[in-house]
Amino acid sequence: MNSTYIIGFIVVALISVAIYDIVQKKHTIWRKYPVLGRLRWLMENLRPKIQQYFVEDDINGKPIPKYQRDLVYQRSKGENDKVPFGTEMDLYKEGACWINHSIYPILTSDFKNESLRVLIGEHTCKNPYKSSILNISAMSFGALNKNAISALAYGSKDGIFALNTGEGGISDYHLNANDLIWQIGTGYFGCRNEEGRFDINQFTMNSSRNKVKMIEIKLSQGAKPGQGGILPAIKNTKEIANIRGIEPGIDVISPPAHTAFKSASHLIGFIARLRSTCDKPVGIKLCIGNKAEFAQLIKVMISSNIYPDFITIDGAEGGTGAAPLEFTNNAGMPLLDAIPFVNNSLVENKIRDKIKIIASGKIINSFDIIKVLALGADAVNMARPFMLSLGCIQARQCHNGKCPAVIATHKKAYLLNVDDKRIRVKNFHKATLHKVVDLLCAAGINRVDSIHPNMISIRKDGKIESLKNAYIVK
Ligand SMILES: Cc1cc2nc3c(=O)[nH]c(=O)nc-3n(C[C@H](O)[C@H](O)[C@H](O)COP(=O)(O)O)c2cc1C
Repeated sequence: MNSTYIIGFIVVALISVAIYDIVQKKHTIWRKYPVLGRLRWLMENLRPKIQQYFVEDDINGKPIPKYQRDLVYQRSKGENDKVPFGTEMDLYKEGACWINHSIYPILTSDFKNESLRVLIGEHTCKNPYKSSILNISAMSFGALNKNAISALAYGSKDGIFALNTGEGGISDYHLNANDLIWQIGTGYFGCRNEEGRFDINQFTMNSSRNKVKMIEIKLSQGAKPGQGGILPAIKNTKEIANIRGIEPGIDVISPPAHTAFKSASHLIGFIARLRSTCDKPVGIKLCIGNKAEFAQLIKVMISSNIYPDFITIDGAEGGTGAAPLEFTNNAGMPLLDAIPFVNNSLVENKIRDKIKIIASGKIINSFDIIKVLALGADAVNMARPFMLSLGCIQARQCHNGKCPAVIATHKKAYLLNVDDKRIRVKNFHKATLHKVVDLLCAAGINRVDSIHPNMISIRKDGKIESLKNAYIVK
């Protein structure tokens, strides 16, 4: 074909597009600027990529800055995770934090590695769980594809820690995990009857599986408190629908509220019922909202002498597969405020020893872990960091089935290599805990449970304060 034909073809194509743009009635800009108006769509599409690859600096990218993403990639691949030349952080900025290292650091060989695990449910059930202080946070098969769930599951098996199922129920892929924390949301997937209500028989069956070590009743999630789980139609495949007992190909919006309980006393009764059925630890996951309601819940715990074995606090900065913008930006308490609130409430009511606190919400590196443990948590969960370990590039397409890293889409899930990614999941967990140990040894302490809020300094109102004073940790 000579060049005259090619030019002629392009001209005809452009004229056709221009005619279509003028005739169509949906897009005003196309009608006004035929062909050229389409460039706007192209730029809108390219903008996040240009922002991430060319504009964003190392420390200000959002939601997860580049220096944190890079750290996860390096630790997952077992690569050099050192940085050259000095910190990029502004250490004089309000909120800057550091660990108070000791003049007399201890050797890592003197660290008590058994303190990297915490016992949950030891007072209440026959099968307490000795949990790693770092586990994979709830992400369902549905939000993530089968290969992603398999890689997380196998990674947790290789690294000996737990995977939370998320609210979509237990799939065969989850069963490759070392241990499972089975999450029960308002959709009751895995324990629902035909009307979508809680079904004790199904619960008994699934909770008795050996892999299931703890049950987590999801009350709310930091990224969208007050909203139920959302599985867009494009991600609701036949296989997923079958596991959940629902119709495929439709949007699945779980109700915002539970039907199994409507008040604090019902919730406590529900916890007791589940625990007596499975004899395993039962806890709740929530993002703190109405403080008076939380105080009321504690009152009911004390009056009934029934306590959840753990409370997972998810900060408002937490991640999600899909959420309404206003809920993501403007609902719920951020994690660093919520942990001391919950910890102090338990301490003031003299029930801190009965309940373990698990924290999640943008905890990414080892100092982040120590900081939340210093504020009162006993263990942490991570969701997005484990997605990064699978190769997530923060394209923020989890909600539309177009995830370019093939983690949060079901299309071509086979492209995600489970054998390779499971190693990364394990590596990331291991390297992160190693650095927790290194930092604690630098501070001269040899156990995780010796972490104290005085160990960390923070710049607040222009002065240096301990975390204990800055957050009034009891
Ligand atoms: C893709 C995706 C799916 C999620 N699905 C659930 C879920 O099913 N149930 C839940 O309680 N939280 C869910 N979450 C929230 C996480 O479990 C976690 O609480 C939150 O992302 C904070 O942790 P992170 O900052 O380490 O990501 C999801 C998060 C992501 C990113």
